[in-house]
Amino acid sequence: MTSSDHITTETAQDDTENGMSSTRSKLRDYATRLDKAMQGGGESRIKAQHDKGKYTARERIARLFDPDTFIETGLFISHKAIGLMKGKKPIDGDGVVTGYGRINGRLVYVYAQDFTVLGGSLGNAHGKKICAVYENAMKNGAPVVGFNDSGGARIQEGVDALAGFGEIFFQNVNASGVIPQISVIMGPAAGGAVYSPALTDFIIMVEETAQMFVTGPEIVKTVMGETTSFEELGGSSVHSFKSGVASFSRTDEDEALDLVRKLIGILPSNNLEDPPAIDATDDKARASSKLDTIIPDDPKEPFDMFEVIEEIVDHGDFLEIMPNWGKNIIIGFGRLNGLPVGIVANQPKVLAGSLDIDASIKGAKFIRFCDSFNIPIISLVDVPGFLPGLDQEHGGIIRNGAKLLYAYCEATVPKITVILRKAFGGAYIVMGSKHLRTDVNFAWPTAEIAVMGAEGAVKILYRRQLMAADDPEKLQLELEEQFRDEFYSPYTTARLGHIDKIILPSETRPRIIEALWPLLTKREQRMKRKHGNIPL
Ligand code: HXC
Repeated sequence: MTSSDHITTETAQDDTENGMSSTRSKLRDYATRLDKAMQGGGESRIKAQHDKGKYTARERIARLFDPDTFIETGLFISHKAIGLMKGKKPIDGDGVVTGYGRINGRLVYVYAQDFTVLGGSLGNAHGKKICAVYENAMKNGAPVVGFNDSGGARIQEGVDALAGFGEIFFQNVNASGVIPQISVIMGPAAGGAVYSPALTDFIIMVEETAQMFVTGPEIVKTVMGETTSFEELGGSSVHSFKSGVASFSRTDEDEALDLVRKLIGILPSNNLEDPPAIDATDDKARASSKLDTIIPDDPKEPFDMFEVIEEIVDHGDFLEIMPNWGKNIIIGFGRLNGLPVGIVANQPKVLAGSLDIDASIKGAKFIRFCDSFNIPIISLVDVPGFLPGLDQEHGGIIRNGAKLLYAYCEATVPKITVILRKAFGGAYIVMGSKHLRTDVNFAWPTAEIAVMGAEGAVKILYRRQLMAADDPEKLQLELEEQFRDEFYSPYTTARLGHIDKIILPSETRPRIIEALWPLLTKREQRMKRKHGNIPL
């Protein structure tokens, strides 16, 4: 039964029996209008939506929120009937459903573009409704979830539609770092529409039904002479594996909705709140003997950093972000003794864990998110350096590596770093070293901390001796051994005060949890300024 059923039946009966009372007819009229507005683009378009494996805007919202908590806003807002919309009937809601509700009891704002109404295209009023969602979400300090399913700017409204987009972009930027913003792409996000999700914190794409592209296949063909499809141009796999646009992809809408609810459960509602801690059900003193044997004897042999993360976080529960892009760095959320933390970890299994352009951008963006929303950052380090090569240098590893460095320096949330194995050169500094104001720095006894690897260092330092030697290979190995003993040792670094403590691998979880609780009241002020100039 819809909210209007009651009014419709009762008032209809009264109207017939008593003649039209003006109040009753108004109530009846309201009920009829409400029912019509709720139907969006009507039955056949809803069926077409379902046939594509997609929910409607209202179905998405109903599944997102706790039952019966959604309150709709702006239901009767419509277009201004200008441009090619002149003379067209009003469209209740103007193709977007907006409002607020609760996720696990917490306030969350939402907008959901309704593809059944003019292809979810964004007219001026549609844009204003989304902006109103943002204004209220910011005033009340709650996250915004946006369901994108639209053909882009409503062509019939001309520049007024562009104005709608411009206003949304402004709100996205204004809200950045104030409230979490999650974009869920569940259909096309075409043209300038893509820039709203791109300005938000997380983009979730649904496989096969979601596509994001600035210019569609037809324009690509006309301008560039390239033949392509929507999926090849901007499907979820493109943005998960190639472009790095998507934070997550999920196989269907239900999975994507579950993910939104999970994410909301980890994030604070706004930048003035701490992330939501839950009662810890995993032992905070839990040691892991597996970690004592995880580092291979051969320094060139990789290990899987995921196994380390799973041993450390509560119940091994880790939500990885961007799992298929920049795989040499791992980012994501876990909990430690019930408190959400952000994990940044090198992955020795991919490119030996070295930092390249993609990994630097990926890490930097995540660190800045955590810093904005009071989420402590735990860094797990096994990094041989920045990835060498023409591709990287010409692609701007200097400019892009600087982003990661900048993000670590800028972050004032609690920061804890553990060096597991290699931490060489500039990459040692970048990956949350003490010099960047990390609060607590641990190293495992297996840590190797140096300006550079022994092989390269010996070749530079002892070039003449090696050239003159009878057996240069033997000498090289001997000198490498000496170099390792002298410079690699974590005890040297600890003696210099650059490491706070050397810990057993098996004790990593309890030691991090111990180090974290005093930092929860941490306050660190930096020089006041308008904003820094992060190298972009
Ligand atoms: C008005 C639109 C529309 C739009 C779709 N429709 N896009 N109406 N403005 N931008 C309408 C269609 O006319 C159609 O109406 C209905 O929505 C469903 O569209 P279909 O094409 O039948 O659906 P489908 O085959 O699923 O294809 C969806 C689509 C395609 C891939 C999104 O419609 C498309 O390519 N649209 C244009 C996408 C685009 O290039 N947008 C950029 C606009 S410019 P009827 O009544 O026939 O059912 C832009 C610049 C913004 O966005 C810049 C901001 C900075």
